[in-house]
Order: sequence, then structure tokens, then C-alpha cells
Amino acid sequence: MNHLLITGGAGFIGSNFVRYMLRKYPHLKITNLDALTYAGNLDNLKDIESDSRYRFVHGNICDEKKVAEAMEGCDAVVNFAAETHVDRSIHEGGVFVETDVRGVFVLCEEARKRNVKRFLHISTDEVYGSRLEGYFKETDMLSPSSPYSSAKAGGELLARSYFVTYKLPVLVTRSSNNFGPYQYPEKLIPLFTTNLIENKPVPVYGDGKQVRDWLYVEDQCDGLDLVLQKGEVGEIYNCGSHNEEFNINVTKAILKLLGKGDDLITYVQDRPGHDRRYAVDTDKIQKLGWKRQHNFMQGLEKTVKWYVENEAWWHAIKQKQADYKAWMEKQYGA
Ligand code: NAD
Ligand code: TYD
Repeated sequence: MNHLLITGGAGFIGSNFVRYMLRKYPHLKITNLDALTYAGNLDNLKDIESDSRYRFVHGNICDEKKVAEAMEGCDAVVNFAAETHVDRSIHEGGVFVETDVRGVFVLCEEARKRNVKRFLHISTDEVYGSRLEGYFKETDMLSPSSPYSSAKAGGELLARSYFVTYKLPVLVTRSSNNFGPYQYPEKLIPLFTTNLIENKPVPVYGDGKQVRDWLYVEDQCDGLDLVLQKGEVGEIYNCGSHNEEFNINVTKAILKLLGKGDDLITYVQDRPGHDRRYAVDTDKIQKLGWKRQHNFMQGLEKTVKWYVENEAWWHAIKQKQADYKAWMEKQYGA
């Protein structure tokens, strides 16, 4: 592989992956196609923006012309671009269908015309739905619960169909909850960390006993690179860390790291359709040679430290959120 097209590279995992790949492969070129939605942020890539191996294309994966322009000269594609927040998908599902399903179709069509050598599609463990005990294998049935996870399921099925029908060399990963630097402060760990730094309360949904398997983003990048280089085309790879934690325990761990008291915990109304537990079997990716390097506390300590040291990064985002809220209230009231 000489030239990668990375979509959604201005988001959380995408920006970590762009940086990881440029550091690891000195001769690799990367084009990053990103629509810069609210979740996309070029500040995530400030340190590499002038690297001569890196090119940014501002555009939407649903836009055939932009996709063709961005894919020019690329021999592999890694698709991160997606709408990603479950809570948003409950209120505005349409854009999830558009990006997470139709966007994948547009990318597959262009990749097929160009005979790219690898097409790695990033999916999620949420496509399996909830499971109270045991672990989902790649061959298990999909039973997604939210508009987000359903759209992701649609996207990955479509991508895989391009392998079966057109022999597009598609690989799919289904990863568990990532955490680490540059994650947008709407997801649990960055939202709670930044709120607590500001002495603001943290909203725990329901009883806080939902379980997620926390995968540190650097470990995720290792796994994705391995699947990209060595995975068997047409195959699906779960990627999880066996770092299972109750949400309330995650919350208390962040409180402790920041030296704050439990009085900042607020239990709020549960999310509709809230999945109780996600858990994936990772034998297949481990057989490929992957092993996580961070347990939950190692990853959390690094993450919290990063948010403490990078207040300017998340302050700018939170300020934008506050300005938008104020503008909406002025326009529409309430
Ligand atoms: P993110 O929300 O931080 O970033 C998404 C990026 O995609 C942003 O830069 C955004 O501008 C861009 N984007 C959105 N719509 C686009 C469009 N139509 N065209 C081009 N760019 C567009 O997301 P993330 O957390 O980094 O997740 C990346 C991928 O990994 C997603 O596909 C997500 O489903 C998957 N995933 C995430 C997690 C997680 O815990 N974060 C876990 C498993 C899988
Ligand atoms: P989130 O980071 O949104 O990821 P996902 O829903 O994709 O797993 O949420 C992680 C868990 O934390 C999930 O069980 C919902 C819960 N949660 C809260 O309790 N409060 C919050 O404010 C948020 C954003 C999430």
C-alpha cells in the first residue's frame, strides 16, 4: 500500500489513525476526506497538516464527485466517516442513514471502478445488540437497537456485498467503545471528564449499570492496521479489549482521578432502547497477532491527563456548542 484514502480522518479515531499511520510508515501517503460535520475538527491534525505526505479534501462521502477526486491515486481505503452518536440518532436518524449507509455505497462504487487493493470498513460491536452474558462471535446474528447501530449494520452489509458480488477486497472491523485523546465531548468519557474539570455535574443514564468494553484508541489503531495489512478479504474482525466496566464505575474512576466527590453524579432519565451490555469474542483478531496494550485504568489515566492538559482543545468545542444553543434559543425560543 502506497496511498491510503482515509474518510472521517478529522474525527476521533480517524485523526488518531492518520497520525499513527504517518508515524509508522515513512513512505505512506494519506488523503483525508472529511465533511467537517460538528464532530470533525482540523485542530485534531494540527501537528501533521503541513506533512508533505498528507492531503486534506473537504467533502462528503455521499458526494460522488468529491469521492472520485479524493480517491484519485489511492490504492486502499479506510472508511471511518459516519454519524456516530447514539443519542443524536434517536432525534435525527435521517443523516445516519444518509452517511452510514448511502455514503458507504458511494465509496464502494468508486473503489470498485478503481480496483483498490484493500477496502477497510470500520463498523461497531453495537450491530450485535445487547447481551447479558457471553461474547458475540463474528458469525452471530445482527440485532441492532438504535438508529445509529442499525445504520451501521446496513453500511457494513452493503460493503460486504461488494466483496461477494464484485470481489471488492472488503474487510470489516466491529470494535467496542473506544476512548482516548481527541474524542468529541458528547461521548461518556470525554463529556464526564471535561464536565468534572469544570466542576459541573455528570449525567448518568438510568441506574448506571450498563456495561461497555473500553478499547484505548492506540490499541484500536494497532488492530485496524493489522487487519488492513494482514486480514483476509471478505472477513469480519471483532476488536474488543475485555475491559468491561459498569458506566457508574467508569464515572467513579474519573471522579477519583480528578479528585472530585460523588456529589457531582446526577442520575438522569435513561436513554430509550439503551443496550445493557456489549461484549465481543476477539479470538479471530488475536489469531492475526493483535493484543491490547492498555487495560482500562492505564487507558483512562492517559485519557484524563490528556484532557487536563488540552483544555484549549475542548473549550473551543464546548464554546461552539454553547453559542449554537444560544443562537437556537434566540431564533426559536425555549
Ligand atoms: P467521530 O464522530 O469522532 O468522527 C466522525 C468523522 O466523520 C468526523 O470527522 C466527521 O466530520 C466525519 N463525517 C461525518 N459524516 C461525514 C460524511 N458524510 N462525509 C465525510 N465525512 C463525514 O467518530 P469516531 O468516534 O471517530 O468513529 C469513527 C468510526 O468508528 C465510525 O464509523 C464509528 O461508527 C466507528 N466506531 C466508533 C467507536 C467509538 O467508540 N468511537 C466504536 C466502534 C466503531
Ligand atoms: P456513549 O459514549 O454515548 O457510547 P455508546 O452509547 O455508543 O456506547 O455512551 C457510553 C455509555 O454511557 C452508554 O451506556 C450510555 C452512557 N452515557 C451516560 O450514562 N450518560 C451520558 O451523558 C452519555 C453520553 C452516555
